[in-house]
Amino acid sequence: MTVERPEFLAAPGPTEVPPDVLQAQAREVPYHRGPRFGAILQGCIDALQRLMFTKNDVLFYTGSGSLGMESAVVNLLSPGDRILVLNTGNFADRFQKIAEVHGIETVVVEYEWGTNAKPEDVEKALADDPSIKGVFVQHSETSTGIVNDVEAIGRAVKDKPQLYVVDAISAVGAAPLRVDEWGIDVCIGGSQKALMTPPGIAFLTISAAAWKANETAKCPRFYTDWATAQKSLALDPPETPYTPAVTIFAAFRKALEMLEAEGIEKSWERHALLGKACREGVKAIGLDIQVVEAERACVLTPIVAPEGLDGAQIAKHLREKHGIVVAPGQGKLKGKIFRVGHCGYYSPRDILMCLAALEATLQTLGYPVKEGAATSAAASVFREAGLA
Ligand SMILES: Cc1ncc(COP(=O)(O)O)c(C=O)c1O
Repeated sequence: MTVERPEFLAAPGPTEVPPDVLQAQAREVPYHRGPRFGAILQGCIDALQRLMFTKNDVLFYTGSGSLGMESAVVNLLSPGDRILVLNTGNFADRFQKIAEVHGIETVVVEYEWGTNAKPEDVEKALADDPSIKGVFVQHSETSTGIVNDVEAIGRAVKDKPQLYVVDAISAVGAAPLRVDEWGIDVCIGGSQKALMTPPGIAFLTISAAAWKANETAKCPRFYTDWATAQKSLALDPPETPYTPAVTIFAAFRKALEMLEAEGIEKSWERHALLGKACREGVKAIGLDIQVVEAERACVLTPIVAPEGLDGAQIAKHLREKHGIVVAPGQGKLKGKIFRVGHCGYYSPRDILMCLAALEATLQTLGYPVKEGAATSAAASVFREAGLA
């Protein structure tokens, strides 16, 4: 019925990539030990330090976010060490699994999915067990849509001997984040979410305290060894120890430049507004949102599938009939929810498009909705913000 068009990514990663970023990636394959790639790498470091409000070192790995998570565990800890994991969902489970594979013991505070981690639980856990070496938490827990208050949790860890490790893979660029002010020792990010770049780069910021822990950390590591990466970055021009995904770095450099042109605080505001508009639209057609502290949910909206429908079925229909890719539920929420991502290269018109397609999908699947209700509620939010 129509000519072939690319699918629209309304998943919380990978996300839509701006044409200028795709072009930056297609221009050339820079040699990875030379001035052209060195300038790209240095540009990424400088931009990330500004965007994440940190003076800490920034290291990169060619790989996905999970590689960054694993590198944090093995570079900070030794087998037999104990860490605190604030488990708000599937990605905290991943921290646990990585730790356990490397012989690290985990003390876990489990939260009901859809709820946020509480700073007072951190205070208590650290008081109960001072042998804990680090506190590990997700900033944006992409499986449930919650955004943890990593600033408040940071206050609970501040001035204590424990390291503070934050997985901000789906948060960087979307949710407010100030690495140094909030006392984050290791902050992990990825290229493929709010940073508008294809998958392929994991990065970490590393504080002086984290470097100190690295000196004595005994977990075996080779590819992910921080000290090796740091040595290569100190070369002139800077390098990575092993061949990086050079074209993705070129794309990343361009995307970070675009984000800085928008202004990071403006980007946070945009994401907050997109989240609010999406929630209002969803509520207007009588569906529930899975998160409790909903106003913090700026990366994605987790929508509870209505009675009799499966979240994956809704996602399938949106993809097949409208070319819109949303994510199904993960883990415990499989089948129960579907997740509409609104992070990165995303604007009000994308929310309106997704909500219109959702209304049509629900209608077809036998859940009658008042057509136009969702888009109209979202449009009101944009209108109030002067954007519609
Ligand atoms: C919060 C969070 N942590 C970690 C990851 C790591 O995943 P990946 O290795 O697929 O980049 C993701 C990806 O969805 C994520 O959202």
